[in-house]
Amino acid sequence: MKEKVCIITGANAGIGKSTTIEIAKMGATIVMVCRNQQKAEKAREEIIQQSGNTNIEIFLCDFAEQVQIKTIAQQLVQHYPTIDVLINNAGFISASKTREVTQEGIEKTVAVNHLGYFMLTNLLKPSLLNSKAARVVNVSSEAHRFINFDIENINIEKGYTPMNAYSLSKLLNIHFTLALAQRLEGTNITTNALHPGIVKTNFSSNLSGFMNLMFLMAKPFMINADSGAETSIYLASSPEVANVTGKYFAKKKQKRPNNDAQNLEYANKVWEVSTQWVQLEGQTF
Ligand SMILES: NC(=O)c1ccc[n+]([C@@H]2O[C@H](COP(=O)([O-])OP(=O)(O)OC[C@H]3O[C@@H](n4cnc5c(N)ncnc54)[C@H](OP(=O)(O)O)[C@@H]3O)[C@@H](O)[C@H]2O)c1
Repeated sequence: MKEKVCIITGANAGIGKSTTIEIAKMGATIVMVCRNQQKAEKAREEIIQQSGNTNIEIFLCDFAEQVQIKTIAQQLVQHYPTIDVLINNAGFISASKTREVTQEGIEKTVAVNHLGYFMLTNLLKPSLLNSKAARVVNVSSEAHRFINFDIENINIEKGYTPMNAYSLSKLLNIHFTLALAQRLEGTNITTNALHPGIVKTNFSSNLSGFMNLMFLMAKPFMINADSGAETSIYLASSPEVANVTGKYFAKKKQKRPNNDAQNLEYANKVWEVSTQWVQLEGQTF
């Protein structure tokens, strides 16, 4: 990974931080995209200490804010004319039982977990195309299986629960990967999605009630963040997957996502709606 520029979102905690430490050990130049300066600085120090790599920059962005994504993407393209790896990892599950929307009227989980990946990737297009061989890695989840996809309900206006919104966002991550891979045919860029495992991180820390109970019960069976990062690291760096694209992985092996996730018609519709939501007509892959 020496000489490579690697962007990792949500790099200050959990799976993102473990992924960053390992890729930093491989000698890459790293950009941590985080929303909180203090947390990011603290994590950066720890990453430098554990990896011995000082080529680690921080860029701040809250993925719930489209304006911030556009600004930081512009800055990244300016600072890094070539980007070799983008790991879309930042994500959350809402603690709110009521549906919250962003300024643009998009349900917040879908906005952060799906549109965050969609926008950043498309806006980094010029720098990704400049790489000899770029990789876009999308952290999804087996939770994508917990929802029946309804093309008319991508903004989850009906049937909102935090888990439904989260599951949908993770299904959209796989649709995004499928549609992106199709658009990347004939380029130097590959893209794959993954499930990291059930990982002990901050992920469930703001949950309450039944959801919290479920996570507490699952805790003894959860893997640690270092193990949870293994498939992200594999997809970002292993020569074994240099030519693999549009697939879904778990435990460093290809896995079949559910039928809805493999539906190219759905994936293309999601792409079309997402493009309109973020007003990127003519600028996407
Ligand atoms: N943990 C699991 O069992 C599990 C299972 C399947 C998939 N995943 C996926 O793995 C990825 C990483 O999750 P994790 O378990 O490592 O959770 P985590 O420890 O909570 O880390 C999530 C990261 O995303 C960042 N983030 C959240 N909302 C953001 C926003 N609006 N803007 C910018 N950054 C934001 C967090 O920043 P702050 O620190 O500032 O909050 C943090 O850096 C997520 O995509 C998640 O869906 C996790």
